[in-house]
Amino acid sequence: VPQENIRNFSIIAHIDHGKSTLSDRLLQLTNTKLSEQRDQYMDKLQVERERGITVKAQSASLFYQQDGKDYLLNLIDTPGHVDFSYEVSRSLAACEGVILLIDASQGIEAQTLANHALATKNGLKIIPCMNKIDLPHADPDRVAAQVHAALGYAKEEILQVSGKTGVGVEELLRAVIERIPPPTGSLQNGLRALVFDTWYETFKGVVSLIRVMEGQIAHGEKFLMKSTDKTYEVHELGIMHPEATPVTRLQAGQVGYILCNMKSPAEARVGDTVCSDASVEALKGFQPPVPMVFAGIYPIDASDFDALNKAISKLLLNDTSVSIFKESSNALGLGFRCGFLGLLHMDVFRQRLEQEHNADIIITNPTVPFRVRLKKNPKEFVTISNPSDFPDQSQVIEFEEPVVKASLLMPTEHLGGVMELCTSRRARDLDMVYLDSGQVLLKCILPLGEIVIDFYDKIKGISAGYASLEYEPAGFQQAQISKVTFHLNGKPVDALTTIVHHTNAEQVGRRVTEKLKEVLDRQQFEVAVQAMVGGRVIARETIKAVRKNVLSRSGKTVGGGDVTRKKKLLEKQKEGKKKMKRIGDVELSQDAFLTVIDNS
Ligand code: GTP
Repeated sequence: VPQENIRNFSIIAHIDHGKSTLSDRLLQLTNTKLSEQRDQYMDKLQVERERGITVKAQSASLFYQQDGKDYLLNLIDTPGHVDFSYEVSRSLAACEGVILLIDASQGIEAQTLANHALATKNGLKIIPCMNKIDLPHADPDRVAAQVHAALGYAKEEILQVSGKTGVGVEELLRAVIERIPPPTGSLQNGLRALVFDTWYETFKGVVSLIRVMEGQIAHGEKFLMKSTDKTYEVHELGIMHPEATPVTRLQAGQVGYILCNMKSPAEARVGDTVCSDASVEALKGFQPPVPMVFAGIYPIDASDFDALNKAISKLLLNDTSVSIFKESSNALGLGFRCGFLGLLHMDVFRQRLEQEHNADIIITNPTVPFRVRLKKNPKEFVTISNPSDFPDQSQVIEFEEPVVKASLLMPTEHLGGVMELCTSRRARDLDMVYLDSGQVLLKCILPLGEIVIDFYDKIKGISAGYASLEYEPAGFQQAQISKVTFHLNGKPVDALTTIVHHTNAEQVGRRVTEKLKEVLDRQQFEVAVQAMVGGRVIARETIKAVRKNVLSRSGKTVGGGDVTRKKKLLEKQKEGKKKMKRIGDVELSQDAFLTVIDNS
């Protein structure tokens, strides 16, 4: 297929607006045979099917004939969520255009806008397209007006399709061919290709999807990975049709996979440049993944540590953006400290551990990375992602917390409630745009630490599920930060330690101590549950001892004559209390404790 007959494009959409269904329809319409019958080929992972989100991109090359000409249409799938926005933007960098899919009954949502902005930033041709027009409550006129108001497209430009029935899908392919420009890039130049997705397969090893920008690459050739400066040899290359189908070469403008002698998935990085030699300039925009949400992952049963270790290593083969360190906790034993791109990323990782590896795990409350400037090195900020690395306040000049640019889209009647929540979470620079009669877009800057716990659930609650939230990282801001520790009879429970903005310390302290009181069994002695900041107690609960009244143990009061025995018994009881208290050996059932710690 000549370069002018190639189109590289993506479908971008809000979750559930029908991207997978439409992708399947495109495969079917172009007679792209599936080796096994599958409902939705494009969404492979169980998590993806259940949650209806695309985590790992699945791309496919489609052959299509129109007006007697053969076309090669490369459908490049993008992960469906902002947590993966870096991966989305790399996938988009492999395209010349996108189909912006909008549910004709739901209309524009926050992710539609975020995706649109990303596509515009990448200079792509955008085809606005309404989906699900077969639905009885589809309202194409209203949605068209909305698209016009929010994104500026004329009504005539907006296509109408149903991925389910197939209506309008041929017209959509025609629009892809007519509106999206073919790739450019000379075959004569040295090889330059973008890695936009990678994964690991047991027998093949590391598979990388690449978009060739310049030059060509063939079986048996050597190439260089720009970010690591390592040389490899192509063992196999081909196109996804939709399964891996070997070809002899890939040329400028084409999309395909390569297998080479890479040992570890960490060597293949999304956004990296594959090139012929060191003189070739890297493609713009490569970034190593930056984890923004951290949590501890522990086996519920300590003897499962090895199994968990194995399961995590396996998952890491296909997700090199998770950062992992071993850690140990007095309450939970051996486990891992994990860094994720965002909350959803963390959730997906947990779910995959549970579903694909049957791991019984506990995941601690998430924290965000803080930056700190210390007196001993005032010129530099260091990042702290683990509460246990938190420096003593006396050594600190200043702290910084990460903030995000949030976009919340909702029906106007929920604006008041949502704004109130945002304000209570320290939102600033609030800005509103009314999209049409019913919808309003609220933009603001929010500390990431304020949204990692329950913000999303709260937003959904306030708006009866109608508000949607998107956010992107927006750097750091100065903040006063406190480390809150929890103690049972003076002994710290390290797994509960958390770092929060100082205005939240008391609230967090109270919440956790109350919860501890609720779940802890009464002991033979009194238990003090304390939350502390620095040396100061900020919240306290007392769990009363179960009082075994030794004086009336046998039903009758120990007689006045037997003073020594009475004393002895009381002494013993006191000693018992003292002993237990001294050791700090508060007995707590594992289950009860887990309900305090567990975030899931
Ligand atoms: P992500 O992978 O998270 O982006 O979700 P998705 O956009 O791929 O959504 P998916 O294709 O899984 O569709 C979501 C739901 O909408 C499913 O229940 C589909 O059956 C339904 N759906 C998709 N397209 C259509 C359509 O054209 N008409 C109707 N009536 N339903 C559709």
